[in-house]
Amino acid sequence: MYEFKGSLPDKLPGAGTTIFAVMSGLANECGAINLSQGFPGFPVAPELIDLAHRKMREGFNQYAPLPGIRPLRARIADKMKRLYGADYDVDTEITITAGGTQAIYTAITAVIESGDEVIVFEPAYDCYVPAVELAGGKAIHFHLQEPDFSIDWDAVRKAITSRTRMILLNSPQNPAGSVLGKADIDALKSVTEGTDILILSDEVYEHVIFDGHEHLSMARYPELAIRSLIVFSFGKTYHATGWKVGYLLAPAAITAAFRKIHQFNVFVVNHPLQQALAEYMNDPSHYEELPAFYQEKRDAFLSYMEGSRFVPRPCKGSYFALFDYSAISDEPDTEFARQLTREHKVASIPVSVFYKNPPRQNLLRFCFAKDNDTLRGAAERLKKV
Ligand SMILES: Cc1ncc(COP(=O)(O)O)c(C=O)c1O
Repeated sequence: MYEFKGSLPDKLPGAGTTIFAVMSGLANECGAINLSQGFPGFPVAPELIDLAHRKMREGFNQYAPLPGIRPLRARIADKMKRLYGADYDVDTEITITAGGTQAIYTAITAVIESGDEVIVFEPAYDCYVPAVELAGGKAIHFHLQEPDFSIDWDAVRKAITSRTRMILLNSPQNPAGSVLGKADIDALKSVTEGTDILILSDEVYEHVIFDGHEHLSMARYPELAIRSLIVFSFGKTYHATGWKVGYLLAPAAITAAFRKIHQFNVFVVNHPLQQALAEYMNDPSHYEELPAFYQEKRDAFLSYMEGSRFVPRPCKGSYFALFDYSAISDEPDTEFARQLTREHKVASIPVSVFYKNPPRQNLLRFCFAKDNDTLRGAAERLKKV
């Protein structure tokens, strides 16, 4: 053990160990069913694993090109055209990243300067605000409106100032399970029209969307796409969160600014996995089946939970379901989540951690990207609470 005695700056005052690590640690300690952290409980397709092996054996083990390998970028361009009617240039507008998180961090670092304001909707995925603050920006927090976690666009319009540099969106939304609709897109167009505001659109759950809702990617709308940095993750799409491979799409000038930072941030991304993903992407059925696959999970979990005192909130997308525990307890959610893990052996995430100033609510987030036996087992325990 080495004891460091010097002083260190605290670049993120108030930030501790993420709640995901805390709750997963507690779940392990207590032998609880872990529905806290958002990772799929399903294996990666054997075909994709075989491809990764093969690409390593074929010798793709040295640095990939800075923007990512061209065949993978080309498959992504094809997919964007096929799904969203969007034209992204393979060479200048698509960059492979080390997962969605690195894309988000690098994007914010590339375009946010000291004093810039960034609009963030809460509850918000936890990596956005730290990246904004480390870049010297200021997060302007808006609460999504209950019960369906919608955006109050009038309030947003009133908050726009000459310093507003970015609006950060996430649809399908983690943790709220909400998705952007046509009216949101119209409002976004009108709020940003005639401004220099950029949009950072986190679309990592593009395929985890239910009940026939279409994913309204920023890429579908040229007036929004010209100001958008769009983030995707192969981890979410191919049940491979541990691979940490994703991508960022943006117009050429924004991509150039992004790559300037990216080259000193990660330089390049895992090469054999890029080769494997490029080949695997030739078959679109792998992602086309995802909405039905996850809808079955959501419906199964909701049906197993019937008869419990936990009340579900609507879930239109993402693999998270929120449940209100007001009928059981009035304790703060951080306390209640710990107690539930210790006493009833089911780990969840308290929703207040996704806010700067949490509103008064009693909500827990459960990840239903698990096999049905796990979901049934968790629901049986929760029904006893
Ligand atoms: C909304 C959201 N954005 C980004 C990420 C990060 O994606 P990746 O694992 O590819 O870094 C996650 C992961 O949970 C997420 O839920």
